[in-house]
Amino acid sequence: MAWALITGASAGLGREFADIAAADGYSLILVARQEDRLTALAAELTARHGIDAQAIRADLSRADEAERLWSEASQGREIDILVNNAGLGRNGAFADPQSWPREEASLAVNAVALTILMKRAAVDMAARGRGRILNVASLAGFVAGPNMAVYHATKAYALSLSEAVASELSGSGVTVTALCPGATRTEFFKADEAEAATYLTRLPLPSARSVAEAGWRGMKAGRRVIVPGLNNKLSAVLPRLLPRKWAVAVTGILLARR
Ligand SMILES: NC(=O)c1ccc[n+]([C@@H]2O[C@H](COP(=O)([O-])OP(=O)(O)OC[C@H]3O[C@@H](n4cnc5c(N)ncnc54)[C@H](OP(=O)(O)O)[C@@H]3O)[C@@H](O)[C@H]2O)c1
Repeated sequence: MAWALITGASAGLGREFADIAAADGYSLILVARQEDRLTALAAELTARHGIDAQAIRADLSRADEAERLWSEASQGREIDILVNNAGLGRNGAFADPQSWPREEASLAVNAVALTILMKRAAVDMAARGRGRILNVASLAGFVAGPNMAVYHATKAYALSLSEAVASELSGSGVTVTALCPGATRTEFFKADEAEAATYLTRLPLPSARSVAEAGWRGMKAGRRVIVPGLNNKLSAVLPRLLPRKWAVAVTGILLARR
């Protein structure tokens, strides 16, 4: 039986990854904090696709949770695919004394837990000579983001780490893919509090399904970096063409609170 572990499976992109993976015949380990949602999803996907599915509650912002999760999930089974999808952001000025708890959680989930899970997966997969890792980074990884500074920095980290490890593992049978979506219709901006939504959320946003499908297809093909959608592809290239200071200033305007 082939297993995929998906973090952040209770909502948005992670929920779609779970559905796509189940339709592709993978049994699932679904991870997030909202256990009721995970349990309901596991039951639904088991009934619909005849796969095996287990829900594991984990708060990945807490030290040691990622280690505990991998140990529990890989006990007696080989995990063929890791989807490092859980993540959160915070919109607002960096020099705000109230903002640290959410920024700290962003760092812990988007960077630290992602790295621990990726390392544990890479070690196990390299020893077996096969496996796939999909890290959900972001378009935010291509440019610094005033008004969302820590989030953009975590996504630049995830993108950089993914590309470096993909290169190290080249020829090993293990692939690493970074998915870099632009703003997408999920609970992401809701979680960041309605009043903090940015100008980006005024645009017509692509569905979580279409973005997850692009990521899953690219991961299965062993691609290293995926930017889904033409607008996003242009947005990824633009910061390389403009002077850095201008690119950062324009991004800051787009990320300003409404
Ligand atoms: N939506 C966008 O515009 C966009 C664009 C680019 C990249 N991304 C990235 O896509 C990924 C998925 O986000 P989304 O848009 O699908 O957002 P979402 O709908 O808010 O889903 C986020 C998921 O992450 C989980 N999560 C958050 N904090 C967690 C924690 N401490 N421990 C464990 N799980 C946690 C949530 O589950 P619980 O609340 O149940 O824990 C939820 O399942 C993130 O990495 C995000 O940065 C999103």
